[in-house]
Amino acid sequence: MVVIHPPPGFLISIGFLLLLLTRTAAGESTRPAFACGGSPAAVAAWRFCHRNLPIKVRVRDLIGRLNAEEKIRLLVNNAAPVPRLGISGYEWWSEALHGVSNTGPGVKFGGDFPSATSFPQVISSAASFNSSLWELIGRAVSDEGRAMYNGGHAGLTYWSPNVNIYRDPRWGRGQETPGEDPNLAGRYAVSYVRGLQQATGGRSGYLHLKVAACCKHYTAYDLDNWHGMDRFHFNAKVSKQELEDTFDVPFKACVVEGKVASVMCSYNQVNGVPTCADPFLLRNTIRAQWGLTGYIVSDCNAVQVLYNSQHYTATPEDAVAAALKAGLDLDCGSYLARYTGSAIQQGKVSISDVDNALANTLTVQFRLGMFDGDPTRLPYGNLGPKDVCRPAHQSLALEAARQGIVLLKNDRRRLPLRPSTLHSVAVIGPNSDATATMIGNYAGVPCGYITPLQGITRYIRTVHQAGCRDVPCFGPGQPIDAAVPIARQTDAAVVIIGLDQSIEAEARDRDSLLLPGRQQELVQKVAAASRKPVVVVLISGGSVDISFARDDPRVAAIIWAGYPGQAGGQAIADVLFGAYNPGGKLPMTWYPQEYAAKVPMSDMRMRADLGRGYPGRSYRFYTGPVVYPFGHGLSYSKFSYSIAHAPAEVAISVNMRWAAATNLNSTRSVPAVRVSHIECIFSIISVNVDVANMGNLDGGHTVLLFSTPPAGAERWDPPRRQLIAFEKVHAASGKTVRVKMDVDVCKGLSFADNYGIRRIPLGNHNLQIGDLTHSISIRMN
Ligand SMILES: *[C@@H]1O[C@H](CO)[C@@H](O)[C@H](O)[C@H]1NC(C)=O
Ligand SMILES: *[C@@H]1O[C@H](CO)[C@@H](O)[C@H](O)[C@H]1NC(C)=O
Repeated sequence: MVVIHPPPGFLISIGFLLLLLTRTAAGESTRPAFACGGSPAAVAAWRFCHRNLPIKVRVRDLIGRLNAEEKIRLLVNNAAPVPRLGISGYEWWSEALHGVSNTGPGVKFGGDFPSATSFPQVISSAASFNSSLWELIGRAVSDEGRAMYNGGHAGLTYWSPNVNIYRDPRWGRGQETPGEDPNLAGRYAVSYVRGLQQATGGRSGYLHLKVAACCKHYTAYDLDNWHGMDRFHFNAKVSKQELEDTFDVPFKACVVEGKVASVMCSYNQVNGVPTCADPFLLRNTIRAQWGLTGYIVSDCNAVQVLYNSQHYTATPEDAVAAALKAGLDLDCGSYLARYTGSAIQQGKVSISDVDNALANTLTVQFRLGMFDGDPTRLPYGNLGPKDVCRPAHQSLALEAARQGIVLLKNDRRRLPLRPSTLHSVAVIGPNSDATATMIGNYAGVPCGYITPLQGITRYIRTVHQAGCRDVPCFGPGQPIDAAVPIARQTDAAVVIIGLDQSIEAEARDRDSLLLPGRQQELVQKVAAASRKPVVVVLISGGSVDISFARDDPRVAAIIWAGYPGQAGGQAIADVLFGAYNPGGKLPMTWYPQEYAAKVPMSDMRMRADLGRGYPGRSYRFYTGPVVYPFGHGLSYSKFSYSIAHAPAEVAISVNMRWAAATNLNSTRSVPAVRVSHIECIFSIISVNVDVANMGNLDGGHTVLLFSTPPAGAERWDPPRRQLIAFEKVHAASGKTVRVKMDVDVCKGLSFADNYGIRRIPLGNHNLQIGDLTHSISIRMN
């Protein structure tokens, strides 16, 4: 979102105007800094300021008071003030992907708010598979966001989270997402959004919001810049089947269950139509089918992109009309402010199109309390500088980092290292003293860092040598040979390598899945010199083909730390020395380099087409070789499973609506029933699993429940396996814990057919938990 900046003229002049108004306002004592806080007489005269009236009425009243010009200037992220109604300008664009971020112009660090807690990058938090953690992070982040708003340093509309499916390992923004699995991404979206918004009270749809979240980028957006194709021009060809059972899943969960206040449409086209100009996607799907009660915003400058880059429309006015008619409510950019007036004059847009868009954006502002007067007297009004970087938030950032760490390899239990048996440890590698690298992109200014080197030094004497000048570690002159002697002199070597934003980032997809430059050579030289097998720690958002290290007996252990956030170095050290027992699991498949060489990033198909040499994507469809599979992650303990209780048979019933409309027998005879024809209210089943910690360390463990469809379902091309539930448990050493996993049959056991229609095949569905299997027969009642 940061890459193209708005065309200079317009935003600057609005910004300048704003500045002038603020200046004047400061001089007069009458104009309040917040709406509906002025003189009691004025507030009494404006019905939109009456807090006891329904929001719908207040919104209608306010729209009725605005003239066309004022309305049009509210259609953009940099919304102009309406001084005569006591309304200040508002910057809609703030970000809080994993902590309050200054990626957007809405957040300003400085003064009383120099920094904010920087939680692990999302791909790392996803690896915890712990939905209560995601919600708690959301709550902490929104405490800080609301505090900064109260202090005038941030907005209340945060364009986070990014819940696009991490479809291709090369994607530079994969780090921002919860991974490749639709169910996992959906659960993440719901939990994080609930945490951020903490919606309470009121009637459904008009819940009060602490901050407003935004699920982005709708939809099938996961190519930034690859082999001459970029996101502003890319046309994602997506089948109805995969839109329904892959790309749309997290967005639907975000809107329907998470009750998110906003969805952002993406830059790319889907099947030839730019998403921000597609009434099928915006009006039909997001608003009508899923029931979004908030607003739809464009990715930044996406309306301009319709005309300028994609040449999708003949004039800027047509671009504005296409977006508004499709259901867009807010332009991150300036196009709607610049061209809606002329579009109205040309008869391409009507003022009621504008009013509809404003009703959606204003409703969210009312729900946030932005028309309820002094924010410090509202709920959350007590939040201030003391609540940002609060010790509890910083400990949560550390805890999240620990939970997200994935132990990929641990030969002969080389880990954990025992400080009492070691004299000193060599800490080597271009990421060994990482700071900003640990927080990934869409970050802010963290409260502070604990680098891996600092973390390890808290446990033991260290000798440090980066071994590479930087993460790219490219070409001659890298100080690799300087690292070799210290590996020889010490009792253990930890090599901390990986990626950073110079390798994977927004607008920067990778080409190769291998370690950058000479990093592999560094690991191999250190491993050859070290007296004991070495430990490799990878800091990266995306996966890396590290099969060389996986297969090298001189590399005893491999840890993937993701981008672990501000306290990442402490978390890594805690895992290395056994103060924390790792329990993270990979939220995406780790493909070998040959995969990237063979599969075009632009091919959106998830499903394999083996006859034509297309291997498919993600563990749901891809059956080829992997470096590490989805869900992989070791522990210092060993866990074993047994099924305590699970149904063997589930009868599903046809719903009344469908029963009334058709001959039941025709449904009974179909081997895969449409989900829309089934009574899905009582469709939850419970699978109870006993998890025994057989090791001598306590630890967290995630139970992953997969299902395989019945034989005979192949004709619908279902996923070969899908994650239908997961639950994180904590089990003390030697103890057994019972986990209840709820599965909604309608969601979990269904998939889309070629027409995008969700179906449940009748017959025996096979459930798997680790090595355990359990069969559930689905039949019609
Ligand atoms: C439905 O099937 C049952 C048993 O196969 C049969 O007795 C009944 O007549 C059928 N009903 C209709 C409406 O076709
Ligand atoms: C999930 O995360 C929360 C927050 O850190 C933590 O309290 C809880 O113990 C975690 N759950 C498990 C099973 O580890």
